[in-house]
Amino acid sequence: MTQPITRILGIETSCDETAAAVVENGTTILSNVIASQTDLHAQYGGVFPELASRKHIEVIYPVIQQAMAEAHLGFDDLDAIAVTQGPGLVGSLLVGVNAAKGIALARRKPIIGVNHIEGHIYSLWLTDVPIQFPILSLVVSGGHTELYLMRDHGQYEHLGGTLDDAAGEAFDKVGRLLGLPFPGGPAIDKAAAEGNPLAFSFPRAVMGDGYNFSFSGLKTAVLREVQKFSPDRLPLNDLAASFQAAVIDVLVTKTNAAAQAHKVAAVHLTGGVSANRGLRQAMRERLSVPVYYPPLLLCTDNAAMIAAVGHQHYRQQRFSPLNFDVIPSLQLQ
Ligand code: KG4
Ligand code: ZN
Repeated sequence: MTQPITRILGIETSCDETAAAVVENGTTILSNVIASQTDLHAQYGGVFPELASRKHIEVIYPVIQQAMAEAHLGFDDLDAIAVTQGPGLVGSLLVGVNAAKGIALARRKPIIGVNHIEGHIYSLWLTDVPIQFPILSLVVSGGHTELYLMRDHGQYEHLGGTLDDAAGEAFDKVGRLLGLPFPGGPAIDKAAAEGNPLAFSFPRAVMGDGYNFSFSGLKTAVLREVQKFSPDRLPLNDLAASFQAAVIDVLVTKTNAAAQAHKVAAVHLTGGVSANRGLRQAMRERLSVPVYYPPLLLCTDNAAMIAAVGHQHYRQQRFSPLNFDVIPSLQLQ
């Protein structure tokens, strides 16, 4: 028997991207619209929460309309609406959730509140990567550095996470120390490619044999080195390369240890920092199991990944009540 086609509209506004996408059967992207606010926040050196929610309000409906138009569908063709419920900035989350509720109510469609971290994990379902459980999933983004053991759909065992700064946050803070534009991640990635990763010996926080991470000591060590130079003589590329090498070393070492301990079939690397070229290469070279990561457009925040999770919930008929609330510190378990 052939399965009926399901089409889910995904909406994502947890931080500074306003995004909407339509995904068919949880795997095929029909449209994927992302309005980024990066330029708006760059002048403040980080995301300015009030500005972010105001901008989301301005563009949310045009973004949704564009996603529907590019998918060549009307709202009545949808099976459900999936929207990021958390974690994220409360004011930003509210814009997406309220827009989703409006459409769900007006068109009598089921609504599905989605965990943003689970969204990153499911970004790989939108690619042709072979999915084989058990999977070790490392989510590295601006807000998270989390290792999950995934034995089946929707089943997560949290093995460890950051105790202080997330990996992306460390990239962004060190980018600022080095005088690079916001967000620091892509700028450091570029500078690091021209630098010597052995020029500075930065600390690797190992903290026993657990799977937790800590990046704040590393950030302080970079600051101490930066202070030794006058700004016009800063060895920018070498500092970027040495910092990046330290982050990569810790991420790869812990991921490899967890992959071996739990005998996983593959490692999935997702989230904004999974765009990092050095990290991708080191994971490919040093892991003892295959590693998969999404194409660049699906590494950073997008709504297709939210719709992909929505599809899994839809299959199990797991819907949210229309009065569900945003949860800024939502956990994944
Ligand atoms: O997943 P994402 O778009 O948003 C969150 O959920 O946080 O991740 C954004 C983070 C930022 O910290 C950004 O600096 C980092 O991902 N990032 C990178 C790269 N591209 C984005 N970090 C390192 N190298 C990159 N190429
Ligand atoms: Zn994200």
